[in-house]
Amino acid sequence: MGKNIAVVGVGAVGIEILKILKERSFPANLIRVFARNSRTIEVEGQNYQVEAISDEKFANIDIALFAGTEGEKGASLQYAHKFIEQGATVIDNGRDFRLREDVPLVVPEVNKEKISLNKGIIANPNCTTIQLVVALGGIFKHFGLEKIVMTSLQATSGGGRSSAQSLWEESKFIVEKNKEKKYFNQLDLSRGNIESAFSRQIAFSVIAQIGGFNQQGFTSEEEKVVQETHKIYGDDTIKISATCVRVPVFTSHSESIYFKTAKPAGLEQIKEALSSSEGVSFNPEPSGFSLPFEAEGKDLVYAGRLRSDPSEENSFWLWAVSDNLRKGAALNAVQIAESLIV
Ligand SMILES: NC(=O)c1ccc[n+]([C@@H]2O[C@H](COP(=O)([O-])OP(=O)(O)OC[C@H]3O[C@@H](n4cnc5c(N)ncnc54)[C@H](OP(=O)(O)O)[C@@H]3O)[C@@H](O)[C@H]2O)c1
Repeated sequence: MGKNIAVVGVGAVGIEILKILKERSFPANLIRVFARNSRTIEVEGQNYQVEAISDEKFANIDIALFAGTEGEKGASLQYAHKFIEQGATVIDNGRDFRLREDVPLVVPEVNKEKISLNKGIIANPNCTTIQLVVALGGIFKHFGLEKIVMTSLQATSGGGRSSAQSLWEESKFIVEKNKEKKYFNQLDLSRGNIESAFSRQIAFSVIAQIGGFNQQGFTSEEEKVVQETHKIYGDDTIKISATCVRVPVFTSHSESIYFKTAKPAGLEQIKEALSSSEGVSFNPEPSGFSLPFEAEGKDLVYAGRLRSDPSEENSFWLWAVSDNLRKGAALNAVQIAESLIV
């Protein structure tokens, strides 16, 4: 039987949720769409009436997919409980509930058995974490993991629609002001005073900071990778360390992943594990790695450049690319919703 669905937030992730519900023929009787402001939007040829969220009771909703902003003034902390009180199950994309003990943090390829433990709310992990735990999921299952060191190269859409738009505006401004210049070393690459969602320049640049810093100098994005990976794998003995970097790409994060298995493993065994990992497309050819825009709009995590570290046993390098708005957010949430209706 069809379900009544609510989508809260129609920014970068919310729009993708609407696309994916349609694409996968999700059995929806009704889709109500909420955001801060009302308007009509068109997504892949279909019009949706967006309602300004208010203090109504949100009755008769079976599944509410939240893709609003986070924190005190964000959608989830303000409204999720109102949906749950009326009998809906909430799937939340933000960070507010992810680490709560009574909230399952789910990546279906890795721990879908946790979905049934929910008490009204299921959390979707951060995009960077999802891609990492899917890429290493089969390896973790077969060999365990002793250590992960990961550097992410994250797309601007990971910061929402306004961040991706800022990359476009900064780039256009810089290209425009340099269009008469003949040589790259004559270019004026500064973005000047134009308005941007980024406090430091992203166009023709990279920013080694996503989120605020903690006392040890790690960012909140880097902390999420450690805490969420421990929770999803159910193993907090894995030593994990991350550096998260914003790069001038619109969609798809790339990750350079160094890992050491807990049990002995050779290169061929790791290749086999990757080839049979759920949600992973593994290319064993050195040049068979994916570019971010090639992964855009696709559902899988594209893994490649597997190398054995000659200086350390049971240790390997892997490169993984995935669409942060799909597997990193919207698709993962819709997969969870699909598990709720079977
Ligand atoms: N972008 C990613 O790759 C990614 C990946 C994983 C998780 N997430 C998480 O997913 C969530 C959505 O991210 P996004 O990138 O889609 O953000 P976004 O592009 O900035 O869009 C946010 C949407 O939420 C709506 N909204 C904001 N505050 C609200 C409130 N209090 N009540 C109702 N609606 C509200 C906005 O409404 P208006 O349009 O009316 O302003 C907008 O439609 C965030 O929690 C983010 O951390 C994002």
